[in-house]
Amino acid sequence: MILGIETSCDETAAALVTEDGEIRANVVSSQADLHARYGGVVPEVASRRHLELVTPVVREALAEAGATLDDVDRIAVTQGPGLVGALLVGLAAAKAIAWSRRLPLVPVDHLRGHVASLYLQPGAIEPPFLCLLASGGHTLLLDVRGYGDERVLGTTLDDAAGEAFDKGARLLGLGYPGGRELDRLARNGDAGAYDFPVARVPGLDFSFSGLKTALLYATRDLAPAELEEKRADLAASYQHAIVRALVGRVREAANGSRIAVVGGVAANSELRASLPDAALAPLQLCTDNAAMIASAARFTDAVVYPGYLGLDAYASR
Ligand code: KG4
Ligand code: ZN
Repeated sequence: MILGIETSCDETAAALVTEDGEIRANVVSSQADLHARYGGVVPEVASRRHLELVTPVVREALAEAGATLDDVDRIAVTQGPGLVGALLVGLAAAKAIAWSRRLPLVPVDHLRGHVASLYLQPGAIEPPFLCLLASGGHTLLLDVRGYGDERVLGTTLDDAAGEAFDKGARLLGLGYPGGRELDRLARNGDAGAYDFPVARVPGLDFSFSGLKTALLYATRDLAPAELEEKRADLAASYQHAIVRALVGRVREAANGSRIAVVGGVAANSELRASLPDAALAPLQLCTDNAAMIASAARFTDAVVYPGYLGLDAYASR
């Protein structure tokens, strides 16, 4: 089995996955509550929390799988991109476990991890496909030609789609992270109530910062009672604009090829409903988790002892 560890942002996660892509355990401990009072992730707070949680989370994953470290053949860990302090905690834990057992270690790119959420059972798919990766930090259109072989066709010029959801949620007075809350609220709203603009940028890129400004203008002069009354309509219209932008680009780029969607925003109900023909990452594998990291390790070269002791984390690709 592969033991996966993920600590790139505010989720401390460990998972056990077989070579065939079966999930034996998938433990995610979210720190969202800890960061909510600050309205976003505080990097130093995240690092400290990862340090407290990483060992118990690994233990819990082993217990859930009914396994011990004797059953583990290699350790997979997120090397980047993400918060460097947070990544270093997972990387150090992975090195320590691998070193103590002389096991190989597989450094995994977080974004490749999201794509590899599609290679887990049940319902694994095979490349090639066009992949929309939409998360809190990234919005990418990828031409996935093989396992671990992808070409970037488009990206966001400013905010990521998840960031747009989170910033919109904040303007609407919802908690952090706001994507899921906004999704829930939008179900009771009229998506046609407001006409929010979808930026048209050249090529296959995205832009979401104008949309956020449009929501700001629509909300800033509203009295609290008025905002309360229109909140669901604002959420529905805003979400609709983001989803329209994502789906529009995906359809343009797909050109008949198979479509897949991964990342936290892939959990969005309107996006899922708008792409009925697409391969959608299972809900529990959309947001950050370690099963996808272990999955990516199946298609990534391992580093043998002691070569991995010098590996460093990276903040961006
Ligand atoms: O992939 P992820 O867990 O972390 C990153 O790698 O960034 O994605 C988190 C993002 C957040 O911005 C969150 O608000 C968004 O995914 N998200 C959603 C939903 N669930 C999570 N956005 C829209 N609708 C949802 N249901
Ligand atoms: Zn992620």
